[in-house]
Amino acid sequence: TQTLHQLAAAKGKYFGSATDNGELSDTAYTAVLGGGEFGQTTPGNSMKWDATEPTRGTFSFTRGDAIVTFAQSHNMTVRGHTLVWHSQLPSWVGSLPAAEVQPAMVNHITQVATHFKGKVFAWDVVNEPFNEDGTFRATPFYNAMGSSYVATALRAARAADPDAKLYVNDYNTDGLGAKSDAMYNLVKQLKADGVPIDGVGFQAHLAIQYGFPSQMQQNLQRFADLGVDVAITELDVRMVLPRDATKDATQATYYSNVVKACVAVTRCVGVTIWDYTDKYSWVPSVFSGQGAALPWDENLQKKPTAYNAIVAAL
Ligand code: XIL
Repeated sequence: TQTLHQLAAAKGKYFGSATDNGELSDTAYTAVLGGGEFGQTTPGNSMKWDATEPTRGTFSFTRGDAIVTFAQSHNMTVRGHTLVWHSQLPSWVGSLPAAEVQPAMVNHITQVATHFKGKVFAWDVVNEPFNEDGTFRATPFYNAMGSSYVATALRAARAADPDAKLYVNDYNTDGLGAKSDAMYNLVKQLKADGVPIDGVGFQAHLAIQYGFPSQMQQNLQRFADLGVDVAITELDVRMVLPRDATKDATQATYYSNVVKACVAVTRCVGVTIWDYTDKYSWVPSVFSGQGAALPWDENLQKKPTAYNAIVAAL
């Protein structure tokens, strides 16, 4: 039998899982993470601004480097995540005078992308730029520079690492709607302006109680038709606990639908689940009463419903 990554690779794509530093000391966990199911990984936290530049001008790459080292020794590629984001942003950035935000952002991008040059194949350069209604989120970057911060960030990333694929990434843009229209219009404008953008990431943090995103395949395709790659970057499918067979079955159809949408779109380069086991899922800590979002349970056992649905979709 073939692994998830082998099945994806046969279609010219990768199948990956996020991970984090604390988990790398769990040998039962790393046996699966590095055991062939996944050809790609994304550091869940360790390349974010608060991890890499907690104090202005003082950079720390130790934790990011540890993920890269694990990946390299297990034949996994790495997506860099993330350079510019309003969350997990040290408070010193938000306290800067407006005129200093752009130089601080450009320096952060330059230092981090230069350090990881040759070690990551892609960067989520800008993460979560939009509100649900499609307006720009009022972040320290937007507040200081307006929407041009996105182009400035992409240009800085390209200058630092010309070989990395540069992405803008967001959630609730997986299907058609106001927020994905906003992302579409942004990418179209960036392309028209000659700004270096190579891809759009769709986080795909889904919840069975909210329904499946509208026309996901068509949505991915319209971005691809703008001349960018697309990727499913943080897939998980949560439910209101407790699990039961009905919820598991619905979850499996969601996993299947997402993977099928990527497979159907030539420019969809791969799928990353936001860690592979419920043991290390971010969901229960953020969405009270919800969980069981990943294809492996908290005992590192495959859930036949979700796992087999992914296999069948690849
Ligand atoms: C999450 C991590 O998984 C958690 O460990 C952390 O506490 C908060 O961030 N969108 C993103 C990711 O782009 O970086 C987030 O990751 C999940 C939502």
